[in-house]
Amino acid sequence: MENGDIINHVFSDVFGSTSNQESQTLLSNTMTAQDNMSIYAILREQFKQEEMNSRLYKNIAIWLDMNGYKCAKVWNKFSDEEREHAKQILDYFITNTIPFTLPSLEEQQLSITCLMDVITITYNAENNNLVKLQAMYDGAKDYITKNNDIYLDNICRDMIDKQYRDIKEAKDMLSISMRTADTLYLDEYLANNF
Ligand SMILES: [Fe+2]
Repeated sequence: MENGDIINHVFSDVFGSTSNQESQTLLSNTMTAQDNMSIYAILREQFKQEEMNSRLYKNIAIWLDMNGYKCAKVWNKFSDEEREHAKQILDYFITNTIPFTLPSLEEQQLSITCLMDVITITYNAENNNLVKLQAMYDGAKDYITKNNDIYLDNICRDMIDKQYRDIKEAKDMLSISMRTADTLYLDEYLANNF
């Protein structure tokens, strides 16, 4: 190999590898940005879900209130708790200064005819939300590992823990409602024990 060839070879090698590195960095930056966007979308979707559950329980509380049930206060409390869950996600965005716009919520049409409907709707909503939270955690796991994001990991774990407690509560309601046909008693019991 002539001297000139050697210089050209070295030159192209150096420049070749530099431009490769640049493009790899650009590519990995783009991929990271995409990864971040998708985890933010997943979190925002779960924020919306928690807000929807809050509305669901508020709608139930309104129906119970209108029909003279004392246990309306329990569903008002559930509604507040769901908003707290949504706030946990919003706080993550605020703490990390990630832009966030509130998602719009669709109107919910509920058909409730009795207290048993209320309990069944609640039990189903809590079980559905567990599936969604587990999907959120699955979707976030890679991001959590790559970024060592302990804060997000704690949020996911905490929300899933709380979800199991909420399911237990809904299950207890279902079980007591199966053991009595007395709606007056059931209303009192729910109002005093939940
Ligand atoms: Fe929740």
